[in-house]
Amino acid sequence: MNVSIIGTGYVGLTTGACLAYLGHKVTCVDADERKVKALQAGKIPFYEPHLGDFLADAKHNLSFTTQYGEAIPQSRVVFIAVGTPPSSTGAPDLKYLEAAARGIGEHVAEDFVVVVNKSTVPIGSGNWVESIVREAYEKRTGQKANGRFAVASNPEFLREGSAIFDSLYPDRVVVGSDNQRTGEVMYSLYRPLLEQSFKAPWYLPRPERMGAVPLISADLASAELIKYAANAFLALKISYINEIGQLAEKVGADITQVAKGIGLDARIGTRFLQAGIGWGGSCFGKDTAALVATASEYGLDASIVKAARETNRKQRERVVEKLLDELKILKGRTVGLLGLAFKPDTDDLREAPALDIARKLIERGARVKAHDPVAMERFLEQYPDIDITLCATPEAVAKDADAVVLVTEWKQYRDLDWESIKSSMRLPVVLDGRNHLDRARLAKAGFRYLSLAG
Ligand code: UDX
Repeated sequence: MNVSIIGTGYVGLTTGACLAYLGHKVTCVDADERKVKALQAGKIPFYEPHLGDFLADAKHNLSFTTQYGEAIPQSRVVFIAVGTPPSSTGAPDLKYLEAAARGIGEHVAEDFVVVVNKSTVPIGSGNWVESIVREAYEKRTGQKANGRFAVASNPEFLREGSAIFDSLYPDRVVVGSDNQRTGEVMYSLYRPLLEQSFKAPWYLPRPERMGAVPLISADLASAELIKYAANAFLALKISYINEIGQLAEKVGADITQVAKGIGLDARIGTRFLQAGIGWGGSCFGKDTAALVATASEYGLDASIVKAARETNRKQRERVVEKLLDELKILKGRTVGLLGLAFKPDTDDLREAPALDIARKLIERGARVKAHDPVAMERFLEQYPDIDITLCATPEAVAKDADAVVLVTEWKQYRDLDWESIKSSMRLPVVLDGRNHLDRARLAKAGFRYLSLAG
């Protein structure tokens, strides 16, 4: 099938690569000429494990362009995967979505085409996109658009850092549409994925016990709400375990054991119960804010989601409070941050806790040093206003520091030579913001080990 993808961010590029890998002819469209040139030359605009191999494997089915005219007219399915960044009110900014919808209407073929919203968009956007495509189509052709195209919602659930794995082996595929023909086109598009009939790449073997993938066929509004409700629920789980973590600290309980003990109840589940600094990234903050904003448009309070947001905000403050408690004075101190990215295996810094923590420490007069295995270059590019001294190694971050904070749980930080790091620090204080380090080993090495839950 011929497919176009508008937007080559995490979602667009991964979706494009995945569909090309499954055998479809995919053209990715992006307005950013530099990015398109780089992609054409085989360069990847962000760090994502296996994406390079995956794009190379799918290369024969994949092309990139800045021109709608080179992609849309021959496509049966057009995905919109543009950014919907948060605006000042918490509601997402839809200008890129609107531009994409207009561009589609201006170029869509005069045959049946499915326009798919892949970006996370407010509930009701499917209808809105349809009206923009229709208007642009009718203006161009002077004809009624009836039956020429239909809009579907197909939310993504991929996590950065495991985007390819999540795309190839999803727990479910959700397709929302108010039109039967759309459902049929989407079914044939995803068939190899649903039936798991494709050959698994060597670098990402199919998980054992992976069966057929369930397809959830819903109406448009339900599919749109599924996306928000899923992300908000995961965010709730994290804030919940962080709230219990605060109590665990007071009563002397171990939050990791508590999380395991409750998580093994199948009704609860073990995932997304990792206590610590809390969530960052481009999705949870934005999607919970959007859910609250939508609820309030309908006179609802969404108080549980609001509370989860507040708990998450406070976790970042607690890092600074803990350091203040321990060091008494932050002015003139040097604090080292291990990790800048919002989570391991990505160089994405959007809503990264490290940025907030660094700002707060700097405000209090501390000097901040940091290391990240992949995100430092991006940090320099995007946050020249935050005065952090970047270090080539984690050891250099710790040298002469009064405290080190583990912000992002990169695997290699657990295996550092903590014994020799201790002797290079001014004070041997470690705040393990992700409950990631070997507490017993650090205590034995003579560290003062702090965490957000004990
Ligand atoms: C998320 C969703 O998981 C994905 O389904 C969605 O469609 C896009 O948003 P992503 O933001 O890439 O994915 O990362 P995710 O792995 O969900 O982590 C989000 C944040 O929560 C990270 O900052 C992570 O460190 C934090 N987190 C995650 C915890 O603090 N505890 C956990 O147990 C899990």
